[in-house]
Amino acid sequence: MSKEIPRRDFLKAAVAGAAGLAAMGALGTTAFAEEGEKAPRFEGKPKFAGVGSVRNVTDDIFYVGVSDRRIELFENVYPIPRGVAYNAYVILDEKTALIDTVDRSVTGQFFENLTAVLDGRDLDYLVVDHMEPDHSSAISEVLVRYPGAKVVCTELAATILNQFFHCDISDRVIYAAEGDTLSLGRHTLTFVYAPMVHWPEVMMSFDSETGILFSADAFGSFGALNGNLFADEVDFEKDWLPDARRYYCNIVGKYGAQVQAVLQKAATVPIQMLCPTHGPVWRRDLNWILEKYDLWSSYTPEEQAVLVVYGSVYGGTESAANAVAAMISQKGIENVSVYDVSKTHVSELIAEAFRCSHIVLASITYNMGVFTPMKNFLLDLEAHNLQNRSFSLLENGSWSPAAGKQMQSILDRLPGVSYTGKIVTILSSPDDDDYADLAAMADAVVASLQAGPVAAVEKEPAEVTRWVCSLCGYVYEGDELPEDYKCPLCGAGADKFEKQ
Ligand code: FEO
Repeated sequence: MSKEIPRRDFLKAAVAGAAGLAAMGALGTTAFAEEGEKAPRFEGKPKFAGVGSVRNVTDDIFYVGVSDRRIELFENVYPIPRGVAYNAYVILDEKTALIDTVDRSVTGQFFENLTAVLDGRDLDYLVVDHMEPDHSSAISEVLVRYPGAKVVCTELAATILNQFFHCDISDRVIYAAEGDTLSLGRHTLTFVYAPMVHWPEVMMSFDSETGILFSADAFGSFGALNGNLFADEVDFEKDWLPDARRYYCNIVGKYGAQVQAVLQKAATVPIQMLCPTHGPVWRRDLNWILEKYDLWSSYTPEEQAVLVVYGSVYGGTESAANAVAAMISQKGIENVSVYDVSKTHVSELIAEAFRCSHIVLASITYNMGVFTPMKNFLLDLEAHNLQNRSFSLLENGSWSPAAGKQMQSILDRLPGVSYTGKIVTILSSPDDDDYADLAAMADAVVASLQAGPVAAVEKEPAEVTRWVCSLCGYVYEGDELPEDYKCPLCGAGADKFEKQ
């Protein structure tokens, strides 16, 4: 994997005693294992060979998660032809701890794994880093099977657990506040709040013994695990990156500011391994995936690249879109991709929009507006908070073309958007004059690409002001913060909130 991507300043910062985890007193001064540096590794205990899908993460931390290859739609929205893994982990120490559970669809395999790893020992703690049911729907059964287990979670997680499963854990819960620690013996977990990444109750658990960050959904990916557990056991960039990008952009993409806050906390601790709740575990090249998260969460285009998306009924708009793509390629731009908006799941298009710096949209006029699948894509871009892109627009209409301005009116709502070239209008199918206009559009896109990264266009500030809890990162939205406001996550008063 590439080492070339320059790290942003805050990822370079290894700050002992600074805000975040280092202030909790448990942590050291070096951020992230450098490439080639020895990371925790264990070759596998024969004891577990052939038992379920158990893998050793270290000599006393075990993967007990399960892959689901039957599911068609993740969250009943996103197609996942490669399946998905629900990751859970067990720490065997003087005390035992289970970090998260799995979706209800795979509990059989999960309990086979858990029983094998515990090997007759009781479970002392169930740490709930994330309450979304793909990780929590086995909690009730865990509590029945292990009546002595205490649940460690945020107060909000306990509330939501009860809402979903009518499962009152008040007599066996330990509320984890930001920075609280839980000693298991050699291992000590420090709890780090990650509100709105991508649910409000999310926390991460950092093990200072091994440098493992149990990171909830962050750094996760679609895709079932195929025996391989670690990202360095697969060709991640080739086989996994598109699904990791699609997972991030669609599930977490709206919450870039919250992810940036977590990355800043992460830069203060000596992370050796990232253990997410989906997809491979990271023990090598951590900076590579951290840089991807930095780009995605700051809405910086991952690549100087052109994305062409068209919505066409009788082929004229498709011809025009193909022509623009060919003209751009003819001028030496290799990183160009073309999609039919009617045939491509919108989650793929969202991921491609996060990847590419320049986006060409071509739509027919339909019911005097934007073609329905194209409009859905544009509204989804807005919902996922895409920013800082250059758009070029093409409209088609046989008697009253109107899609161009209507596309622009939606895109104008995205921060940092600019436009390259004028709106090209064609009537039914492109003629010679239209091809001249398309050539001008292609020239403008190529010139913009060659000029370097797209400059964000400053706009009026958003109407809603944000107030960020300086203790846990919770974000309150509203013009005024009530004087008696208390953070719903950590209980901090209004004086601990900073206006953004
Ligand atoms: Fe994988 Fe947000 O649950």
